Amino acid sequence: MPISTELWSERIKAQKPYIAGEQPKNSNLIKLNTNENPYAPAAGDALLRLYPDPDAAGLCAAIAEVSGVTPERVFAGNGSDEVLAFAFIAFFGGGKVYAPDITYSFYPVWASLFGAEYITIPLDAHFDICADDYLTLDGGVILANPNAPTGKVLPLRDVERIVSANPDRVVIIDEAYIDFAPDGSSAVPLTVKYPNLLVTQTASKAYSLAGLRVGWAIGSESLIAALNTVKNCVNSYTIDRNAQETASETISARAVFRRNTERVIRARDWTTAELRRLGFSVLDSGANFVFAKPPAPIHGEAGKSASELLQQLRERGILIRYFNLPRIDEYLRISIGTSEQMKALISALEELL
Ligand SMILES: Cc1ncc(COP(=O)(O)O)c(C=O)c1O
Repeated sequence: MPISTELWSERIKAQKPYIAGEQPKNSNLIKLNTNENPYAPAAGDALLRLYPDPDAAGLCAAIAEVSGVTPERVFAGNGSDEVLAFAFIAFFGGGKVYAPDITYSFYPVWASLFGAEYITIPLDAHFDICADDYLTLDGGVILANPNAPTGKVLPLRDVERIVSANPDRVVIIDEAYIDFAPDGSSAVPLTVKYPNLLVTQTASKAYSLAGLRVGWAIGSESLIAALNTVKNCVNSYTIDRNAQETASETISARAVFRRNTERVIRARDWTTAELRRLGFSVLDSGANFVFAKPPAPIHGEAGKSASELLQQLRERGILIRYFNLPRIDEYLRISIGTSEQMKALISALEELL
């Protein structure tokens, strides 16, 4: 059956992608088809002289296996930033895309670059996404879940309400931090039921591979075909050989993944409790960071603003993040490190406050 292109942007429907030369699995062939060098490079694995598999089939199979989907429903790219950028071109270019007012600040950048009108919908007073606001829209939707930089989790039933209310629009759920959220929060199982749902994930957070640059999307075959079309109009070989191999092995090593994720979650919950003890208001986080507002001044004491604390922690060799933006300029975003690092942070804050 031909793949439906109904949800694709007009520009992507019109493209005829580049077709790369064959990269065979069989190494007995005399390979004179893609202008590679026959001699090994001075450094690195000798196989690096050959182009990698443009489809990253082994990596997609590893992702499919742990996600409970078939490999045809997986697209892998050079970090989820690249996958998301391709998705903006494929589904939102030339149209509209709706997102919360406080979310990942890369979304409006891609919208602007790829010609999508970016329309924001305010989070409520508790920094929660209100699903009701997303049920009658005239454009696509992108939501980070857990959201960034708030860390707040949108329950799966609300994600499903949004996806099912917009059958003719693509809804992207950016799950960069989903592995730190409560079990059952991921929308991946819904991708089988809803052809308009694209879920993106990454090896950068729970798999500790930010330096490798691997991310992926899971969705219907139509959405995955659109992403492949964009990729083959930009760069056939987005993921290098080392990255394909290392990411496949890492994603399949479930015990290490589980142990490290549990350690981060434990340190996050400890940090949340300690910050609250010090008088911070801390949002409930389902991510590997917390979003916290320093205590208000008491009994005429001066108190410290978020930006002051940022600076004073920096002087003590501790880096955290501050966004000087409307609604969140009193908050600090603190990534979760080892339990020793989090103890050092809390001790420094105890001294500063
Ligand atoms: C919400 C969100 N999505 C996507 C990304 C991109 O992750 P990567 O490109 O490393 O996969 C980030 C990175 O911090 C993020 O915060």
